[in-house]
Amino acid sequence: MFAITNSVGMFGMNAFPVTVEAEVFKGHPQFDLSGLPDIGIKESRERVRSAAFSVGIHFPKGRILINLAPADVKKSGSSFDLAIFVSLMQAMDILPLRMPERVFVGELGLHGTVRSVRGVMTMTMLARKNGFQEIYVPKENVREAAVIDGIKVYGISSVEELMLHLVDDKPLKPEAHYEPESRQPDSGQLDFADVRGQVKARSGMELAAAGGHNILLIGSPGSGKSMLANRLPGILPKMTKEEMLETSNVYSVAGLLSTEKPLMTERPFHSPHHTISSAGLAGGGSIPTPGEISLAHNGVLFLDELAEFRRSTLEILRQPLEARKVTISRVSGTAEYPCSFMLVAAMNPCPCGYAGSAQKKCTCTQKQIQQYMSRVSGPLLDRFDLHIDIDPVPYEEFSSKEKPESSAVIRKRVEAARQRQAERYAGLGFYSNATIPDNLLEKFCQMEPDAEKTFGRMYELYHMSARTGTRVRKMARSAADLHGNQKIQKEDIYMAVQFRGFESKYLG
Ligand SMILES: Nc1ncnc2c1ncn2[C@@H]1O[C@H](COP(=O)(O)OP(=O)(O)OP(=O)(O)O)[C@@H](O)[C@H]1O
Ligand SMILES: [Mg+2]
Ligand SMILES: [Zn+2]
Repeated sequence: MFAITNSVGMFGMNAFPVTVEAEVFKGHPQFDLSGLPDIGIKESRERVRSAAFSVGIHFPKGRILINLAPADVKKSGSSFDLAIFVSLMQAMDILPLRMPERVFVGELGLHGTVRSVRGVMTMTMLARKNGFQEIYVPKENVREAAVIDGIKVYGISSVEELMLHLVDDKPLKPEAHYEPESRQPDSGQLDFADVRGQVKARSGMELAAAGGHNILLIGSPGSGKSMLANRLPGILPKMTKEEMLETSNVYSVAGLLSTEKPLMTERPFHSPHHTISSAGLAGGGSIPTPGEISLAHNGVLFLDELAEFRRSTLEILRQPLEARKVTISRVSGTAEYPCSFMLVAAMNPCPCGYAGSAQKKCTCTQKQIQQYMSRVSGPLLDRFDLHIDIDPVPYEEFSSKEKPESSAVIRKRVEAARQRQAERYAGLGFYSNATIPDNLLEKFCQMEPDAEKTFGRMYELYHMSARTGTRVRKMARSAADLHGNQKIQKEDIYMAVQFRGFESKYLG
């Protein structure tokens, strides 16, 4: 008998439909599986055999032929196991022959268990798009599937459970629709109320958070750079539903969702160590998996001690920072992952840390300082919208009895600014001022006439490049959103320009 079952394959973030065909012939006992790489075939065969055995079924005496179509698409992974099992059961006349409206994905474990696989959320979207009515996924992945409307989702923990359901002996209930709730990123006990003084740096962090801008903090050891950066999650707004789904999708493909964490509901904040490899940062592997920049999608990537990272590793960031997606090419194919993140970095100005410092004398030579600073290339520096010099907090401010503003208060203003952006950019596929596409700059970053004049003056005074000018304008848009201005005002231009670091003692 000839059986056909539906499944879904994944490459990178892309899901594609796969049909599994099974047939049993008379003849020498044999199990042929075409359409999968050699190594996958062998392993899949053993898992299917073991699963069948778990429900008391032996493989038939004849020749089993399984084909995964389309043949010309490279397939990998173990997510076809469940569909292979089902189609074989159909071919053996144990399960009903035609189930055109159903899709099966899952890896088989020993004793017939169904184990989690990557990319279930994307697979479910594809199944719905292609008009399927039911999708059967591993129990562990059921919630990421259940956020997708318009398709019935079943979470399966064993082949026995599935078979009893399919023959109507013990029908399962479809999973209820799951509506994830966005949560405030957890910054532990870290609050801006603990940061004394640093008025400018605090205001810069607020502006950066309000528009999702990249920010670089430079200063001597102990001046509070890490302290400020680590408090950023506490002033960021919650993710919108679209952001949650996008980010969760990346995590699903990376295999990082689980029963405990069925979805990414908190804006990610990733702080990789400076020893990280290029592949760890940007993504890689023979079957490309997402790197830190993609895991920080819609969130923050914090690179502390920026100058300690390998220069070659940092250079990899340049292109994705502009494109907000990263392309990874391998022999097996090309994968593209989203990576729209806010880059936050901290560094010292020289090897000893005290160049330009008033408290301590720098012991480095001019050449050493130059060498140190050149570890971070000009084009990369240029991609930080805000450059802030951090000076140590003076004793008067450090010992002041006045309690600094808390993260909760700052966050209110940031949220209001983001709300304005959300309304302005609704349905356009980007969410913040930092990510306004170039062709929409004129439309969304309009200036009052005197602001325009000021901007022109500043542009010439500081010899801005077109890229710098664009970045300043987007920052001014964020300043306007913080100040509640419809169009960009003069004050917004001033605010943006002061944070661009034209007067920086290290970069200016
Ligand atoms: N403005 C401040 N208010 C209160 N405490 C501060 C402030 N700045 C620094 N500190 C204290 O100094 C400690 C060291 O600061 P932090 O680790 O952020 O410095 P850093 O600039 O990252 O230094 P390094 O260059 O050595 O990494 C903080 O944990 C905090 O206790
Ligand atoms: Mg530090
Ligand atoms: Zn020095």
